[in-house]
Amino acid sequence: MAAEKGIVCVTGAGGFVASWLIKHLLSKNYVVHATVRQPGDPKYAHLSTFEKASENLRLFTADILDYSSVQSAVEGCIGVFHVASPVPSTTVANPEEEVIEPAVSGTCNVLKASLESKVKRVVFVSSASAVVMNPTWPKDQVMDENCWSDKEYCRATKNWYCYAKTEAESEAWEFAKRSGLDLVTVCPTLVWGPILQPTLNASTLPLLRLLKEGLETVENKLRMIVDVRDVAEALILTYEKPEAEGRYICTAHEVKTKSLVEMLKSIYPNYNYPKNFTEVHDQIRLSSEKLRRLGWSCRPLKETPVDSVESYRKAGFLD
Ligand SMILES: NC(=O)c1ccc[n+]([C@@H]2O[C@H](COP(=O)([O-])OP(=O)(O)OC[C@H]3O[C@@H](n4cnc5c(N)ncnc54)[C@H](OP(=O)(O)O)[C@@H]3O)[C@@H](O)[C@H]2O)c1
Repeated sequence: MAAEKGIVCVTGAGGFVASWLIKHLLSKNYVVHATVRQPGDPKYAHLSTFEKASENLRLFTADILDYSSVQSAVEGCIGVFHVASPVPSTTVANPEEEVIEPAVSGTCNVLKASLESKVKRVVFVSSASAVVMNPTWPKDQVMDENCWSDKEYCRATKNWYCYAKTEAESEAWEFAKRSGLDLVTVCPTLVWGPILQPTLNASTLPLLRLLKEGLETVENKLRMIVDVRDVAEALILTYEKPEAEGRYICTAHEVKTKSLVEMLKSIYPNYNYPKNFTEVHDQIRLSSEKLRRLGWSCRPLKETPVDSVESYRKAGFLD
């Protein structure tokens, strides 16, 4: 039997990204302290079906806004993956309370608890939203990890999720500098791929809409996507590689909406796809070169939409 790799904590365990991360961690012989907010809720049932879950997965009840609950989950861990954050699918009535506060104060709580428990490294799931909202970045230059979203610009454009992720990541770096905590951040673009959890997460919705809604016209946007399984691997890689440092943009493929629809149509001709596309001029380009240099690779583009559709079908979301 392979040796256990140590105990790590994953926050927001029931979510789309965290569920895949936990599945991969268990398969690599980690013992996982996984935080959930409502223990016993069927939305977490899938976690206990993962291989090795019965021996190596321990669920902790924790809200990231409640320091002592976070502390109990982090205690005894050598690594922490901070994944939990509100990811709204629509505009929210009270952004401060519903998005910003949990993202920012929640992250501070997780970092404080990690420092107190002498955790060796924290991997924080930030977002490309904390990178791309930067109107002063030169238009012809590919965005790398030096590019930060402009918080004032996010506020002015009422982009509360982008604001919250940017503020949370920058606060996390301030905390790490002050305290000496070993922190790595990973900034994924739009995450797609098969879902393990029984409920729909926000980033899955745009793909489902392309399959189901039969829209008259959609914008032919350039989408920067990454597969959820490749995100899980990126998080583990940045945790395990001693030389990992700083931020890592995590993106795999650029695809225009129309090409994506054509690809899906050639495999699944009978879904209710958009009928027309209007051209838009996308200027943002992102690079994951730094993550690739660390040893990350990603699956071919086609696997992600195909495996996504298969998982939506199985879960009944395409009926
Ligand atoms: N999906 C993407 O395209 C994408 C792209 C870039 C970055 N990210 C980042 O990846 C992370 C995971 O996103 P996801 O797509 O997996 O979203 P998700 O499925 O909605 O998962 C978010 C998780 O955060 C938890 N959470 C929210 N507020 C919490 C709180 N106060 N205390 C404890 N847990 C809380 C939720 O717990 P409950 O289940 O209890 O509600 C849920 O498990 C987030 O940090 C997100 O910003 C996602």
